[in-house]
Amino acid sequence: MEVIVVERRQDAAALVADAYTALLTRTPTAVLGLATGSTPLPVYDELVRRHDAGDLSFARARAFLLDEYVGLPADHPERYRAVIERDFTGRVDLDPAAVVGPDGLAQDLDAAGRDYDEAIRAAGGIDLQILGIGSDGHLAFNMPMSSLASRTRLKTLTPRTREDNARFFDGDLDRVPTHCLTQGLGTIMESRHAVMLGFGRAKAQAIRECVEGAVSARWPASILQLHPHATVVVDVEAASQL
Ligand code: GLP
Repeated sequence: MEVIVVERRQDAAALVADAYTALLTRTPTAVLGLATGSTPLPVYDELVRRHDAGDLSFARARAFLLDEYVGLPADHPERYRAVIERDFTGRVDLDPAAVVGPDGLAQDLDAAGRDYDEAIRAAGGIDLQILGIGSDGHLAFNMPMSSLASRTRLKTLTPRTREDNARFFDGDLDRVPTHCLTQGLGTIMESRHAVMLGFGRAKAQAIRECVEGAVSARWPASILQLHPHATVVVDVEAASQL
């Protein structure tokens, strides 16, 4: 696991965007793993900037999302499929049909999880997976005590996560979905390069536990210590307990 500490978030964005540029130059048909949340936004903005400058094309790339709410209608603006389109994929030349997420509207959600892992495998696996980290060390929606070997599956959202996310649903907890489909930790571990970002003091303890602590389901992102190619990019605040 490589840990890079940067002064500013823009430095992290430039660094991670360099990894995308190198990958897409080498392999224009690369498979990208995309994350929602506020943390990756500076990276997406930098990728859009390079795209608009004519330096980077996603035209032949494909993308898989980390997770999706269960039960939100197809046209709901807070579906992660819609969020990633606003934040990133709709701003570059990535084919909308080449961006897929777990099917949170499937009749059989267990099968949808299995199908999703199969779709990732059929695409050749994820070349570059970008990840945020929760302040409790969660990855995607793999909360503390999630199985370290888990696959894409149905999960119940914890009360804390639903409260955290109520701000995206007009502050109305009743409108926040109760379940999600999330890539498992085992699924995430199969990506060829995993890049985890952490910014701000609120992430400092999670970064310490996951980078320097024992590998344990108590801190899900600690599994990345066993990843053959993991890069952790943190700002000075997030690195303050290392
Ligand atoms: C959610 C997402 C995670 C994300 C986390 C942190 O739970 N499912 O993928 O890492 O929030 O969000 P933020 O980046 O906004 O701090």
